[in-house]
Amino acid sequence: MIDAGRLEITPAVRIGGVASVPGDKAISHRLAMIGAIAEGTTVIRNFAGSADCRSTLECLRRLGVPIRCDGTTVSVEGRGLQGLQVPSRELDAENSGTTVRFMSGLVAGYPFESTFVGDESLSRRPMKRIIDPLRRFGATIQARDDNYLPLKIKGGALKPIDFTMPIASAQVKSAVLLAGLYASGTTRVHEPVASRNHTEIALSEFGAQVRTKAGTIEVEGGHALRGKEFSVPGDVSSAAFFVAAALAVPDSQLRLTNVGLNPTRSGFITLLENAQANITVAQLSAEGGEPIGDVIVKSSDITGLEVGGAWIPNLIDEIPVIAVLGTRTRKGIRIRDAAELRVKESDRIHAVATNLRALGAEVEEYPDGLFVPGCQTLRGGVVDSFGDHRIAMAFAVAGLFAEAPVTIQNPACVGISFPGFFELLRQVSL
Ligand code: S3P
Repeated sequence: MIDAGRLEITPAVRIGGVASVPGDKAISHRLAMIGAIAEGTTVIRNFAGSADCRSTLECLRRLGVPIRCDGTTVSVEGRGLQGLQVPSRELDAENSGTTVRFMSGLVAGYPFESTFVGDESLSRRPMKRIIDPLRRFGATIQARDDNYLPLKIKGGALKPIDFTMPIASAQVKSAVLLAGLYASGTTRVHEPVASRNHTEIALSEFGAQVRTKAGTIEVEGGHALRGKEFSVPGDVSSAAFFVAAALAVPDSQLRLTNVGLNPTRSGFITLLENAQANITVAQLSAEGGEPIGDVIVKSSDITGLEVGGAWIPNLIDEIPVIAVLGTRTRKGIRIRDAAELRVKESDRIHAVATNLRALGAEVEEYPDGLFVPGCQTLRGGVVDSFGDHRIAMAFAVAGLFAEAPVTIQNPACVGISFPGFFELLRQVSL
């Protein structure tokens, strides 16, 4: 139980068995939102059980979209492109950046005012990155200090834009593409570095006119979308914690089934494969335009890694656990070009460095990354989740190979992306 506000993770003898992680959070958000403005019903199987995705469903309901949940199957009664209604109250995105940034693009298509609010963490995260392009479409937007929640958006009659992304962010790209569905013509987004392309894939599955060529994505406004059935692949970002655990704990062998392996998301696996880690991908198939496979991992001796540049957007959410894994490599792991980590659910560079030090490790902190020297033995100790699900999970993995138990303070935040995380970790820890 984790009600006590702390949870102790004890060292594992080995990691083993067959496990499957819940449906992908990023894909679940997209299918629910696009389904809401499509015509007809969209049925989404294996929908992520995460609190973030529940925030998206609740905001859609407040915009008049009927949604039914039956276990992990979610049915969204699409309202059509123009069918969202004046929100019954404020749209509370809680902890979810994806909810507020994506949905800002959607409501920008409507002439009524929508107000987004969120929890303390989300209220500290920058929104200027979506405010700027949405204003160029013609939406009127007010925000605290022109950058933070609460965010008031009034749109309608959007003109298409040609937008060069100043940062690699799938959330910003998606806000622009969703608003582009409401613009009178072709909207273009240029990406300096490719970020995850689930929105482009989902839009095309729903029948949108969307094209990608040489770093530019185009979408045509005004075309009706058709609802359909989907089955969401397992979340590769959730799988990453189990991959890291099996690599780091001696004598481990773990098979993770039905994992989403979109190359714009699975940088973590590719990078480790390139570093000769013992990872095999088997039984590849595809669902709703997304590649899926089983990932088989065995304990590995990893020399060391330098991670930066174009790799970063493809493994951005995995960096906390990559840093933890760094202590188990021979030469350490250096991460650069990842300043975005400072504005995630917590300042993840600071959180990782603080917690590694609390476990007796050496870490060098940079403005845009970290260096974690290799061959370090973590002693047990107490770490803080900083209210950030990925920090809590990364340090639970550390607890499996530290020499004494690791206590995580405020562990309940894992529910933001992975409510059953600790139970699954117990099942595979032998
Ligand atoms: C996400 C994109 C990433 C990622 C976040 C989810 C998405 O954020 O960190 O967890 O679903 O598009 P940025 O686009 O801000 O990098």
